[in-house]
Amino acid sequence: MPSNPFSSIFEYAAVVGALTPHTGYVSTAAMERVLEEKIRLCDMLEEIADSLPDNIDKARCLQISSVLVPVVRSTHRYEEDVIFPAYTSVLADDAMQSPLQRLRSEHFEDECYADELTEALLAVARGQDIGNAEALGYMLRAFFESVRRHVAFEREHVLPTIKAAYR
Ligand SMILES: [Fe+2]
Repeated sequence: MPSNPFSSIFEYAAVVGALTPHTGYVSTAAMERVLEEKIRLCDMLEEIADSLPDNIDKARCLQISSVLVPVVRSTHRYEEDVIFPAYTSVLADDAMQSPLQRLRSEHFEDECYADELTEALLAVARGQDIGNAEALGYMLRAFFESVRRHVAFEREHVLPTIKAAYR
């Protein structure tokens, strides 16, 4: 029996649930896990984009449509409620706050995009006509390319700054 590719996302979501702002402690390990899960989602979305228009896996579309929004939102909440405040606290210069404004606004955009993608993937899973496969492919690529850039910035700048300050 094939393993469920999403099981770790649910496990992870449970972990994040325990780490939200009420507990408030900073875990760069949890953040790294957050980013890994987002990249894994991107890889799965890229597989779907590559399979268009004729080889699309409807079951995979259904799986992803059920986790995309919850994963994206829960990871953003953890970043914004726990990680970003920690990052802010170690930035000496107010001018350095601007990357956080951009990251927050990218979160908002990605959440809106995740909603739209979920609807599109659900329609595919239900067997509805894909219609313009090129448009769906563009939508998928715009999302995962944006998320990969965002994650790269967080890995290169946010995490190392926090690790250095909280070691
Ligand atoms: Fe982020």
